[in-house]
Amino acid sequence: MIDLWGEDTATVVAHDEASFADAVVPPIFQNSLFTFSSYQEMCDTFAGKINRPVYTRGINPTVRAFEEKIAKLEGSEDALALSSGMAAISSAILSVVKPGDRILSVKHVYPDTFRFFEIFLRKFGVSVDYIDGSNLATVEAALPGHSLFYLESPTSWIMEAHDVKALCERAKEAGVTTIIDNSWASPIFQNPIKLGCDIVVHSASKYISGHSDVVAGVIATSAERVAQIRGEVTQYLGSKLSPFEAWLLLRGLRTLPLRMKAHEQAGMEIAKRLAEHPAVKTVFHPAFQNKAHPGLRGTSGLFSIELAENVSVEALCNHLKIFKIGVSWGGHESLICPAQASLIQSGGPNSTAFFGVSPHVVRLNVGLEDPEDLWGDLQEALGAASE
Ligand SMILES: Cc1ncc(COP(=O)(O)O)c(C=O)c1O
Repeated sequence: MIDLWGEDTATVVAHDEASFADAVVPPIFQNSLFTFSSYQEMCDTFAGKINRPVYTRGINPTVRAFEEKIAKLEGSEDALALSSGMAAISSAILSVVKPGDRILSVKHVYPDTFRFFEIFLRKFGVSVDYIDGSNLATVEAALPGHSLFYLESPTSWIMEAHDVKALCERAKEAGVTTIIDNSWASPIFQNPIKLGCDIVVHSASKYISGHSDVVAGVIATSAERVAQIRGEVTQYLGSKLSPFEAWLLLRGLRTLPLRMKAHEQAGMEIAKRLAEHPAVKTVFHPAFQNKAHPGLRGTSGLFSIELAENVSVEALCNHLKIFKIGVSWGGHESLICPAQASLIQSGGPNSTAFFGVSPHVVRLNVGLEDPEDLWGDLQEALGAASE
């Protein structure tokens, strides 16, 4: 268990530097435009001599406040907030690759990241090779010839946590840029910049928001890379985060350490009990892996289980009362997401089939309800779903 209130975490999440009329919560700059007081000020701003908001697709003070907090929490020089996790992932990748480049990616990345690789990037002449991120020697041998190494740790569906520090060291030696999806751990449990990663991306729709009321993404990296991503990609794709969402994310951040602690405790307890349950064949949870993942300081409430052969996935989903059937995670509510349903999802290649996830796997998002109520719900439904 980490000291959640160590370092500057408490100050960063709870304290809003900007004070307006002594309000404890800063107002939302819910506007698109900021005017200039003179012709000269406009010239100086466009010449880069003054850094100030001009138009919300570029800089907005509420969005900036969120970006500054993420940069502090991740230990990066700067951050850039975008309209979704996929906008953060695609913008970060597009800032690194050009036609003809090859990406090396760990297996079991988030399914839409996989589709972005296979549907979008291949169209523009960028190819992707997939590798087992837990095998350092294989990664080291495969890195040369690639311009980008894409990590997600823990991975989607099978929740395999990797030694991010060692992987980023190998990539640095090979001159390969690294990007990691850090949504699962949140900045509370893992800070990949401090482990040597170049670019961190988050789906802020998950734990950072925490309330299932925002779709957002954020990139944390050096000031130079933020300027490059802004200037070469996001300004033209128009994928900037809007002020209201940023304001909701600032609210989410204030309780992030407390929520992560609750998700970790309840998630661990339920995962342990499921591991002993006859209806469960395997628990996919980083704490249950016999592998080193030294940069990970804690575990969240998202993990998967493979059900025993005699247990019906459909019956389990339908019998659960507190756990709702849903695709997202990281919010206050507990969810079950069956891999089987994603196998029949239309539209492009399917990552669960491609990487080999059994249709008997279901993912659980352990929310903030009473863990004993959640366990009761699972026990009852597992019993009813066992033939
Ligand atoms: C691991 C991971 N990364 C990225 C994303 C994409 O985030 P968003 O839905 O905010 O675009 C998701 C969404 O489910 C995810 O699970």
